[in-house]
Amino acid sequence: MDHTSFIAAEIEALKQTVGAGRAINALSGGVDSAVCTALAHRALGDRLTTVFVDNALMREGEPERVVEMFAALGIPVRRVDARAEFLGALKGLTDPEEKRQAVTRTFYRDVFGKLVRESGARFLIHGTILTDIEETVAGIKRQHNILSQLGINPETAYGYQVIEPLKTLRKDGVRAVAKTLGLPDEMVQRIPFPGPALATRIVGEVTEARLATVRRATAIVEEELAGCGAFQYLAVLLNDRATGIRNHRREFGEIVVVRCIDSVDARTATATPLPWETLQRLCARIVEIPGVNRCLYDLTPKPPATVEYI
Ligand code: XMP
Repeated sequence: MDHTSFIAAEIEALKQTVGAGRAINALSGGVDSAVCTALAHRALGDRLTTVFVDNALMREGEPERVVEMFAALGIPVRRVDARAEFLGALKGLTDPEEKRQAVTRTFYRDVFGKLVRESGARFLIHGTILTDIEETVAGIKRQHNILSQLGINPETAYGYQVIEPLKTLRKDGVRAVAKTLGLPDEMVQRIPFPGPALATRIVGEVTEARLATVRRATAIVEEELAGCGAFQYLAVLLNDRATGIRNHRREFGEIVVVRCIDSVDARTATATPLPWETLQRLCARIVEIPGVNRCLYDLTPKPPATVEYI
């Protein structure tokens, strides 16, 4: 099916499924949820409520930027402050799958359960893509947005049905649809950003202080690597420390990893051969972050590594 027919078919399907009712969807700042929002807005108009859930795990300036971008497209976005809920749910957790589960549960049950009840919506529209489903089913990792494939019935568990218009597409297909929908280049070309957000880039416990470190490192990586042509680039905070020297004194500091990959659809990936000067500039800026005294570049392909660290 070409992209124009895909768009027409999905808009029709959304109209049929939601009928005269209301639906709700969440924007994350990534291209998948952006495309979902645009499709659902065309299908349902003001019977769609689009929210941006501030889960405390977002990048610098992201809540403001996402709301502004959609306002410019005529799509109102409601910002919901759920920072305390997410930080509370993640407190004390270090196991990667438990962290993912905590984010999923907080998002679907606590935050969305309540929003759905308040808005009168019976449907949640979600930007799950084919790769998310395949990796969850294969047991590689629990993708944040997968429910039915894990045997969770959202209707009985949370009181709403989930609609996944993009579940037959991979990232390259989503980008092509985004372009056909006329979404701005900034949105179409945005590098992937996972649903559980910066929590996937903190090994060990997610705390406000650790989030601040990885958020700053992420901003530096995104600034320095913008336009480098790689599929995705990110910063990770390890759960380890190393000895260093700052101001002539010993410092037992934090370690940040820079990851930059070439890939078509994130199923496999290789490390981008970045110029040495770029790496040095990145390193120099990252070790200026308070408490960070080492910066490493990850050369590992996928497999055996995954893209994210949890
Ligand atoms: P991994 O780490 O599985 O990542 O090699 C593959 C691609 O998927 C993104 N990713 C996610 N996206 N929800 C998402 O929406 C998730 O839970 C999730 N986990 C990983 C990751 O950024 C990469 O592009």
